[in-house]
Amino acid sequence: MFELRECNEEEKRELLERGADSKSVKVLDYFGNDIFFYDIKEQSVAHHDCWVNYTGLRSERPKMLMDILHEQLVISDGSRILDLGCGLSEMGIEINRRFGNISYLGVDVNNNLLKINEANFKSHSGSYRFKNFDLATSQHDDISGNYDVVMAMGSADSFFKIFPYVSECLKPTYIVCESHVGRQYNLEEIISACKDYRLKKSEDYSFTSVNGPVDPSWIGYHRRVNILEKV
Ligand SMILES: C[S@@+](CC[C@H](N)C(=O)[O-])C[C@H]1O[C@@H](n2cnc3c(N)ncnc32)[C@H](O)[C@@H]1O
Repeated sequence: MFELRECNEEEKRELLERGADSKSVKVLDYFGNDIFFYDIKEQSVAHHDCWVNYTGLRSERPKMLMDILHEQLVISDGSRILDLGCGLSEMGIEINRRFGNISYLGVDVNNNLLKINEANFKSHSGSYRFKNFDLATSQHDDISGNYDVVMAMGSADSFFKIFPYVSECLKPTYIVCESHVGRQYNLEEIISACKDYRLKKSEDYSFTSVNGPVDPSWIGYHRRVNILEKV
């Protein structure tokens, strides 16, 4: 599991037809499912894609997070989910593996990731959708809708700016934010921006990744997830 193989000709065509930059894309064995995923060796590359090295689908992180959200009854069959800064939809892929009848919108500023996501979800395109959206500057109307859960996993610096809109206009039952322990200020900013929500659960967890740093004490492997509930 978590092994990568080269794309076959049909898979290369699929990526090409969608306009995805397929240079560093391979096919990952994710719990027996074939998933297009980056093969990145560098610690840092353009558009901040280096995080796929350690936080992505080549680790148990997405599964561990969904275990927590499932146990806390935040996500279940039928949930309507908005995934802010969805990246390679690590969360969407894990959600699709274990829940049914989901309605999911993933938004990210990096268009190449969105094209890969569309290829991964081509047979679920009615229920898993993706949109280019900048959390700091895009028109909020582009993500309006009814959501049970709005999540921001791997939250970065500009993420908090969208949360007054999320909490006051979208009003999901749950808001979930997560990052590594060195970025707790990003999570605090999000919590402060959410009016009329209380902290239901804050949980720390740790993991390692097959292609991340070998040192298990590395900061990116030690993370916190906060679940806010509407009061
Ligand atoms: C650390 S990755 C997290 C990916 C995924 N949510 C996860 O937890 O595995 C952060 C993602 O946020 C996106 N991002 C960063 N700033 C953004 C912004 N202002 N608007 C939208 N997406 C942004 C990046 O392109 C990247 O895909």
